[in-house]
Amino acid sequence: MNTITIHFQNPEGTAGARAVEARIGRTLMQAAVDGGVTAIAADCGGLLSCATCHVIVPPEWQPRLPGPAGDELDMLEMTAAPREAGSRLSCQIVLSAELQGLVVRLPTTQY
Ligand code: FES
Repeated sequence: MNTITIHFQNPEGTAGARAVEARIGRTLMQAAVDGGVTAIAADCGGLLSCATCHVIVPPEWQPRLPGPAGDELDMLEMTAAPREAGSRLSCQIVLSAELQGLVVRLPTTQY
């Protein structure tokens, strides 16, 4: 199997979860854009210079993701919605088989 399912929750983290099939090796941002998740703006196309691909990873998934690198941590200061403990830039998360069923929450805004 070379695809996994990602679940995007609305900003309230409740109803409105949207499931997207994504190829392993793509980034979470690419999966969102390809899957029509319009709340992921991704203005810079994954160049780590816009912070409009912000997502929040819930606590139960945080240990299963590689942590953010320094450049991502710097750009996380630029998110429009308040940064949270689980905030990540989805263009920096590369999908792997271990992330089957990953759940992320969308922020209230990207601007
Ligand atoms: S798409 Fe611009 S920082 Fe992620």
